[in-house]
This record gives sequence, C-alpha cells and structure tokens, in this order.
Amino acid sequence: MSPTLSRRSALRLLGSAVAVAAAATGTGTAAGAHAATRRGDTPANRRVEGLIARLTLDEKISLLHGATDPDPLGQAGYVPGVPRLGIPPLRLADGPAGVRVTRHATALPAPVLLAAAFDPDLARRYGQVIGREGRALGQDVLLSPMVNLVRTPYGGRNFETFGEDPLAAADLVAAEIRGIQDEGLVATVKHFALNNQEKDRMSVDVRIDEQTLHEVELRAFEAAVDAGVGAVMGAYNKVNGTFACESGPLLTDVLRERWGFEGWVMTDWSAAHSTVASITAGLDMEMPDGTYFGAPLKKAVRDGGVSERYVDRAVRRVLTVMDRFGLLDGSAPSRRERDPAAGAAVALEVAKAGATLLRNEDRALPLAGAAARSIAVVGPTGAFPFVSGGGSAHVVPDRAESPLDAIRARAGRGAHVSYALGEDLYGKPLPDGALSGAVDPEGQEVPAGRTWTYEGTLTVADADEWTLVVHYSGERPLVRLDGEDLYPVRAGYAEYFQGGLVTAAPDGLSVRRRTLRLGAGAHKVEITAKGGARGQVFRLRRVTGATRAQDVAEAVRTARAARSVVLFAYEDATEGQDRTTLALPGHQAELIEAVTAANPRTTVVLNTSSSTAMPWLPRTAAVLQMYYPGQEGAAATAAVLFGDCDPGGRLTQTFPADDAHHPVAGDPLRYPGGDGVEEYSEGVHAGHRWYDAQGVRPLFPFGHGLSYTSFAYEDLRVRESRRGLEVTFTVRNTGRRDGVEVAQVYVGRSPDLRLDQAVRILGGYRRLTLRAGERRRVGVTVTRRTLSSWDAKRHGWVLGTGRRTVWAGSSSRALRLRTTAEVTS
Ligand code: BGC
Repeated sequence: MSPTLSRRSALRLLGSAVAVAAAATGTGTAAGAHAATRRGDTPANRRVEGLIARLTLDEKISLLHGATDPDPLGQAGYVPGVPRLGIPPLRLADGPAGVRVTRHATALPAPVLLAAAFDPDLARRYGQVIGREGRALGQDVLLSPMVNLVRTPYGGRNFETFGEDPLAAADLVAAEIRGIQDEGLVATVKHFALNNQEKDRMSVDVRIDEQTLHEVELRAFEAAVDAGVGAVMGAYNKVNGTFACESGPLLTDVLRERWGFEGWVMTDWSAAHSTVASITAGLDMEMPDGTYFGAPLKKAVRDGGVSERYVDRAVRRVLTVMDRFGLLDGSAPSRRERDPAAGAAVALEVAKAGATLLRNEDRALPLAGAAARSIAVVGPTGAFPFVSGGGSAHVVPDRAESPLDAIRARAGRGAHVSYALGEDLYGKPLPDGALSGAVDPEGQEVPAGRTWTYEGTLTVADADEWTLVVHYSGERPLVRLDGEDLYPVRAGYAEYFQGGLVTAAPDGLSVRRRTLRLGAGAHKVEITAKGGARGQVFRLRRVTGATRAQDVAEAVRTARAARSVVLFAYEDATEGQDRTTLALPGHQAELIEAVTAANPRTTVVLNTSSSTAMPWLPRTAAVLQMYYPGQEGAAATAAVLFGDCDPGGRLTQTFPADDAHHPVAGDPLRYPGGDGVEEYSEGVHAGHRWYDAQGVRPLFPFGHGLSYTSFAYEDLRVRESRRGLEVTFTVRNTGRRDGVEVAQVYVGRSPDLRLDQAVRILGGYRRLTLRAGERRRVGVTVTRRTLSSWDAKRHGWVLGTGRRTVWAGSSSRALRLRTTAEVTS
C-alpha cells in the first residue's frame, strides 16, 4: 500500500459512535487497547502482531522513547530498533522548511511563504523535496509540518505555520504531508494542539470551548489524519487543565475514536509529564529520552500500575507505521541521493509564488527605466541574506546569495547599484586604544585546551548608548563589564532559540549582544575565554548612538544619490519566545523614515515572520513581503522587483493596524494569559473573522496581495450539489501583463443555526495564472463540512442550512461579487 493512502475506514464511523458515547458519560476510553482485535487479519497486521509476541518487555519499551544515537547525523531524535527481529532504528529530524541535520540541505522558504501561494499542488512538491532529502540524509521521520493556527500576531513560530484560516491550513497541510510521505519519509503533524504562542508554552493552560476547538484549531489536524500522516506530536501546553501529551479527550476521543488515526503520538521534546496517565490517555512515545517512558514505564508494568496491553498498543502503533512505510520487511524504496538542483528550483518557485506585494503606489514596481538603472540597496538583510527562521526551523542551506548581488546581477552592467548598511547587526571594531593592554578585540585566538584571561579597561570618550557585541566560536567567553556578566548562559535554555539571522555573523561565528548606557570614562573589563577541544576565536564589537547616526546618514546619502531605493527590513523570530511588539526591531523604523524622506521612491522588502505595524507606510512607494524566503530568496526577490514574474502571494494572516487592534489585544487573559491560564474567548471569531465581527479595519486584510496587472470579477453563480455549494464566476485579466490572481470565495452565516457563527468564512479559493486579456470561468466547491458548525451539545457537525450569502473577491475585504444561495439538509 502507498504510504500516503488515507487509512480512514469503517473503524472511523465506529469511532465516532464511541466518542459520542464517551463524551456523553464523561469517561475516557481505552478501546484502542483492543485495537488488534478490530484490525482484521491482514498480512501487515499478522506481521506486526507476530513481532509484538516476540518482543521482550525491555525491547518494547525501547521502542517507546528516545535515546542517544550511536551514529548521530545531527538530527533531533533517535529511537533504537531491535536488530534481532529486523526492526531498524528511527532517526527523526526537523523541520518545517527543510531537513535540519548537520549536513547541507535545501533551505526552502518558510511555510508562511508557501502558504501565501494558496497552492496545494506546490505544497505537495515542497513536501516532496523535504521527503526525498530527509531520506537521503539518513532520516526516517520528519518532525513537521506544524499546523497550529496563527492566533496572535506575536507568536514566535508564526513563520513555521500556514496562517490563521482553518480551511487554507487544512488544504496545505494535507498536500504537504502527501508530498513528504510520497518519498517514503514519515511526516509528523505538530503540535497537537493549541500551541499557538511561545510565551509560557511549556506550561500555559489553554481554555477553549468545544465548538471553537473543532471549528478553528482542529480542522487542519483532522485534514492531516485524512491525508494519512504517520505520526502526531503532542504540544507542550495544557488544554482545559490537562497537559496535551496526557489528554484523553484529545489523544483518544478525538484523534483515535473520532478521526480513526492509526499512527503513533510522540511528545514534543521533553513535553511528557507522567507515565501511567500519559500512556493510558493515548501517548505512545516520549522524546527525546525515557524520563517517563523508560525505566518508570517498566516499573509501572511490573508493579501492575499499568497493563502491558497499553505498552503493546503503543508498540503496535509505531510498528504499524514502520510496516506501512516498508521499514520492517526491507521493502522501503532505497534512499535516493539528494537532488540539490531540483530542491533549489522548488525553493525558487515557492519564493516567487508566495512573494506578497502589499503596496505599490504609482506603479513603483516593477523597477523599470531609470528606476531600474540607478538603485540604492539599504539594510543589513540586503547584504546578509535572511534565509530561515530560528530554533528547530533552522537549516544549513546549500548556498545563499545576497539580495544585493542578485539585484546587481539582474540590473546588469549599465546600471549603478549602491549599498548602505543603515542598521548595524554585527557591530564595528572598538575605537583604537579603547581597550587597555595587549588585546586584539578583532580576533583573539585561544588554542585548544588553553584558557585566556584579560583584565583591563574600556575607555568611553562620550556618554552614549552602547551595544556590545561578542562574536565567538566554541564556548561562549565570559565578558564582564564593571563586574556584570554581559552574556550569561541561561541554564536549561536552548541556545538556538535566538533567531535565524541575528545570532550568527556572516562568517559563521556565534553572536550575542548587550545594550547599556555607558558614562564617559574608564570601565573595568574582564574576559575569560576557554579554548575547549578545538580552540576558539572571539572578537568584541560595538554599535553606539554615534555609529548608528553615521550609518543612517550614509544610508540617506546613498538613497538620495539613487533614482530608486530598495530597503530591506528584518525581524528575527524563533520558537521559545514571542515578539513583544509589532514594530520592527531596533531602529529600523527610524531608518525607513529617514530614507523615505530622502527618496520617496523607496520599496521596503520585509524579511519578517508575520505581521508588522507600519507607521511609516504612507511614506513608502511599495512594500514587498518576502518573509523568510529560503536559500533562493535573493533571486526570487530580484525577479519580483524587476517584474520577471508577478508577485503571486496573498496574506494568510491579517496584518493589524497596530498593537491595540487585533484579536488578542486588550485582554491579558486572552493573551498572553494570566496565572498560567489563557482563554480563547474570541471563540470562533479567530483571525479575519474577528476583524469582521468587530468591524475593525486592519492594515492589510486576509487574502490581500497586489499583482502587476488587474483583474475583473464577473457573473457569480451558485448551485447546490451533494458536495455543498458549487460556486462559479469569471475572472478576467484586464491589464497588459500576464499575472497571478488568488480568487477567493467567502460565505455568510446560516439563518437556521442557533450557534455562534462568523460573519463570513473562507469557503474556497483558486490560484490562477492569466495571460494579459485572458478570462477564465472558475469553479470553487464550498464543501458541506465548510458550511457546517460544531454543535457542542450534540458533539458533532451540523449543516448551516438556509439562505446564505456568497461572495467572490480578491481578499476578505475586497468582495467584488455577491449573491445568495439556499443550503438544504
Ligand atoms: C519544538 C518541536 C521540534 C522539537 C525537536 C521542540 O522544541 O517545539 O517543534 O520538533 O523541539 O527539535
């Protein structure tokens, strides 16, 4: 059987009945422990049951938790196999935008950019690249995709997921999973469920009602199960009082009984909190070690605290997936080599397809004529390519060209392309003689096994704000200023939760910063650097108010001397922490104000993770949202700027006007939560639905994105079918260029339901490429599921019947056509 074949079966129907019964009595269910008797007598089941019968308890337990890899490839997790029975080990690697191991891989654009293309076929090919590379790089399981919805604009992982809309996320995750698993790599949908923020992610208790849970967050997880995903990763947070990794309602009632999931559930890294409660609730594997599912599980079985049937159940789920992927009988396709050129081609295609043009005044873009021949590039990410986000999303890219080089290459020989840094990320050398004594702040080398110490003074000429930046290889040096440790290593804090851009210098050294106000005079400095096993290099640099003013002045001069400006702005997000503001970090807003004042023909290119507040917007000519565009991001950016392709992306998350006007603003219980509890009190009005419900005007609405051409919408018709509503309309390219449109269908409330309903939901969409003047009749099916609401009293979906409004348009706020249609039961 193809590993991607959906495994939904008659069991699913049975499961729904069991779930309703369990919910009605308020009990959990251990029905899954008897799954073998229901699974039928197939060769695959016989194979798996035969293995379970021969495994010792120790061997079974070894399959249920992570361990140290004797032959590590830099991946996140490892589960040893049982060689005597032909069960191979499993290697599990992140991540969302490419395979995260120590070797090179294709760094694809971040999922947020993929999603912006609104193109499930492209998502499948994106998945295939990761699937093939994962196998080639020695992996068996991919710890991706992440499908938690964007709920708060501050979410540190908003770039790793598909956006705020349940339908769009469901389509894309299903397609990506099929792609990953087409290549024989097991996909893991994560983080089940409600890991929608990073703040307090390890402990926060998400309180959510049943209707909201099913209509908003769960839809994409269900689509992943329908697509045949092999594994599910439980979230760190609690859900309605119970840790997600030991939640019977989630792991058994919903996942198994209602959806018929037959793969295995693993924890997020160190997200287990118990042994017996977890395994009976439906958790199958603890990662990355055996704190709860190692010796304590064996002891619980031996002491009678838990029946061995639960261990067998978990082992069965793991082995069933391994068998389905041919890992038990050697029938898995051989590990094909990587194909870096094919990976790069997909990375480029996705980056162009998801490039989202937010603003374009007076056809500032595409760059043409004088504007294309005299260009000032400004900003750190103009010169140092921003490839991928941080944390477990980081990939070692095959290559990464700088946007500046790509723009120079595209502008051609006759053009003049200048560059100014504008905002300094890595610092400048300390002023000559500022450090006393014999120290080379530009590159102190410490041989292996040696310790280097320094005690002296830093002399500051004028009081100023100083950002002291240390660049280092190996162990972080201890740097004290006036007795204070400038770069403390936080115990238990993963160092990689620091973003993908700002923590590494262009030459690969690690970077840490500390900003202080320093008075004029001498400051005591103490440094201890250890050579460790491989020796280390470090250097100290600085950004001060004075150097910043020089950088801005140079950017202004450069901008003024050019006909057009392309200013790159960044925001470096990562898992483990949320953003604290929607403003661009550092002094970038001031830089944009200064540069646009000097030259209003400025395009701002955003290498940001999610929405950004743009008080400077009216002063710009154009804004191009490129997110984290992957290793081919520079070429894609240049292609869009010069009009070699149409910007094909549309927003999958609403951009709020400011920090005070978005779905989680103004209510600390909603976000970030108080006393460890966080309430999803916006209910079903998540994302764009909230803006409609509240009548709040966003900066840019869901679905927004400009083309270089224009489109007309005509002749909207709707008829009911067995599948739902069949919506048809015509889209016409009315401009003189070929272009891309993402035509969207929205549906209004049902008059018959007495349930809370969104003002309007996304019913479907279609990505279209139309030649100049071309018209196309478009058909979109709004499924019965999409037309349904979750009735918490009946624990099920109810169809929203009656006369409903249907719109077609180019964003949730550009609703060009409107009609009504009757939905009957
Ligand atoms: C992240 C997961 C990731 C895991 C392994 C965790 O910190 O939340 O998404 O798969 O680490 O790297």
